[in-house]
Amino acid sequence: MNKLRGYLSSGALIASACLLSAISGVVAAQTTPLTNQEAHRRAEALLKQMTMEEKVGQLNQAAGIVIPGLATEKPDAAIAKGQVGSVLWQFDVKELNRMQHVAVEKSRLHIPLLVGFDVIHGYRTIFPVPLAMASSWDPAVEEAAQHQAAKDSRAAGIQWTFTPMVDIARDARWGRIVEGAGEDPYLGSAMAAAQVRGFQGDSIGPDSVLACVKHFAGYGAAEGGRDYDSSNIPESLFRNVYLVPFHAAEKAGAASFMSAYMDLNDVPATGNRWLLHDVLRQEWGFKGFVVSDAIAVGNLQTHGYARDPEDAAYKAFTAGVNMDMASLTYIHNLPKLVASGKVTEAELDTAVMPILEAKYRLGLFDNPYVDESKVDAQLSSPEGLALERKLAARSMVLLKNDNHTLPLSKNLKKVAVIGSLADSTKDIEGGWTVEGLFGGPGKSHPVTVLAALKDRLGANINYVPGVAPAREYPSMFDAMTGAKKLPPPTDAEVTDWIARAKAAAADSDVVVAVLGELASMSGEAASRATLDLPGMQQQMLEAVAATGKPVVLVLENGRPLDIRWAADHVPAILEAWYPGTEGGDAVADVLFGDVNPGGKLPVSWPRTAGQEPLYYNHNLTHEPEDRPSFTSRYWDLTTRPLYPFGYGLSYSTFKFANLRLSKDRINAEQTTEVEVDVTNTSTVAGDSVAQIYIHQQAGSASRPVRELKGFRRITLRPGETQTLKFSLGKEELQFWSPQTKLWDVEPGTFDVWAGEDSTASLHAELIVTK
Ligand code: NOJ
Repeated sequence: MNKLRGYLSSGALIASACLLSAISGVVAAQTTPLTNQEAHRRAEALLKQMTMEEKVGQLNQAAGIVIPGLATEKPDAAIAKGQVGSVLWQFDVKELNRMQHVAVEKSRLHIPLLVGFDVIHGYRTIFPVPLAMASSWDPAVEEAAQHQAAKDSRAAGIQWTFTPMVDIARDARWGRIVEGAGEDPYLGSAMAAAQVRGFQGDSIGPDSVLACVKHFAGYGAAEGGRDYDSSNIPESLFRNVYLVPFHAAEKAGAASFMSAYMDLNDVPATGNRWLLHDVLRQEWGFKGFVVSDAIAVGNLQTHGYARDPEDAAYKAFTAGVNMDMASLTYIHNLPKLVASGKVTEAELDTAVMPILEAKYRLGLFDNPYVDESKVDAQLSSPEGLALERKLAARSMVLLKNDNHTLPLSKNLKKVAVIGSLADSTKDIEGGWTVEGLFGGPGKSHPVTVLAALKDRLGANINYVPGVAPAREYPSMFDAMTGAKKLPPPTDAEVTDWIARAKAAAADSDVVVAVLGELASMSGEAASRATLDLPGMQQQMLEAVAATGKPVVLVLENGRPLDIRWAADHVPAILEAWYPGTEGGDAVADVLFGDVNPGGKLPVSWPRTAGQEPLYYNHNLTHEPEDRPSFTSRYWDLTTRPLYPFGYGLSYSTFKFANLRLSKDRINAEQTTEVEVDVTNTSTVAGDSVAQIYIHQQAGSASRPVRELKGFRRITLRPGETQTLKFSLGKEELQFWSPQTKLWDVEPGTFDVWAGEDSTASLHAELIVTK
């Protein structure tokens, strides 16, 4: 991706107008989906007509834009020669239609292009970032958002999204933690499968986009949280944790996978045959196709794994990468490899088939174009925006609420709003927004927290932004857009802003401080060494709190931050993440109690970066933290998180009781039902997320102190009790043992806990016999 730098200056996003008249209005009628068998039959018939070069062409994904140093011209000539199977990084609808015309009308076999793009959390209506949606602990949130994204993408000519990212992230320093579902394989699996369902529907058809599960696999374990750095993961950890959400997405029918960038145990993932062939295809039976990450095939040489580009093509292809994303290594080298017999034509056919099948199943041969006149209406649909507001509020996590500071009274007279993020349309949607991806403004109209509060409270707002935080090192997108780094504020400026913030706070009933990170501070190539609130935000917070006025801290961020001071001194903290286009309104909905928050943390919240990597499902040490002297505790800090995995408050309170098992002794083939009663003990309706954790007390390997094995988000009226049932059977109790090298349920005793987070204390025991 770093090669994308400077692209924008080329002006490549400006559609070429010359061919537009030729394509307007050319849209075929809606088609019925093909069965898999029919798609296979047609793909086989087509394959028989293809030359070797045309087959290699289908394995080439070309940049649909000019990128200096990488793609020096638009891919038209190659498309016309049948040398491009797919394009990416182009979302201008007219331009996509134009390129599709070149493919369909000029190439010998008229094979349409498969258009791929990173539609990560919405197209124009931007949903909360994936880490936020995972905080809903409600897979229906992911499914609904991605279904809307699929409809929008198809209307705009994109049939393939490089989503979901299902990388487990145990280290908040890693910038890409924002793109996934956090640290847990069970929660991550539910969110991964929901996204696949949202994108593809029940089966791939003319209304679906293909999902692409990434980054296969282990990317989140990058050493030190440094993006792209090597991952060293023992096989048992890899199978029991990192691979689990990938397998869930595969079982949900994901059409494609993306191979990761980094070295996995010394073998780059993009050239790793064990991973891409033995595990993905042989063990799991994956029938779709694998695309490399961008330029990753060419980069096998940079890794010091391939001798030269031909060797890189050979290693990636024989490992199991079907399609080369943007490095042009396949198109230049695969024909030579086939000619020399190092790659057989039969292997080539096997690689091409799933790509052709996908094109048939998507209905592309019947209907390759989009109706340009309908795109804007679809992308700006009020239904999409209403859905976004609902899902955003559902994804927020209330971290602290002393003295019922929240919800706020609707009759507030004076509110001080602090922090530049409060009014930043650029940041509230987070990163990876389609139309804003290359630094453009995008076409959405994000509602900021300040705008939403003004809407509700009129002129009673006193806003003090302070100086916006800035990255010390530019983001890849700053570099593309040529955005200049702003100098840090002078001492005089800081003093002045602090004085203004204090005065505004002193003159208010309540202070709403909207603090966190710029959207560009997380994402790809956006790892951090600290988790501090960047810039002058901490000083502003301390200044307004010193006035004694109640402070509500609203966090906009893509990773947990070091908020120890706030946790000690600020009465209310709402984690809003990057809540999306309607995010400001959704924050206001929660602050004023129109929505009762019910989200839970999908990550253990560290006190400071020094605790990372930090996760709840670690193994027991022989000297756990609560031992008196020989202890795994740091001598200067607890190893415990500030807020545990699964934690989140509500305006309601809940009680968990009567944890019981239908059978407290089962054999390895049997299942027991876990039942627990959940009661809303407050006077307001609200959501609770019931969570079930287990621990295997002894066996052929040490097992994590706790593992999530069931959860459900429910709404309870005041005083209402619901009895919830979960199953514990083979699926939940088994693990991959490093000794037996098998998935197995081992006989022994299991702890079972139920409650509201990963520290739940309601306990039962389950005995499993042979
Ligand atoms: C690189 C990123 O790692 C990946 O997540 C993304 O899908 C591709 N670039 C394509 O933009």
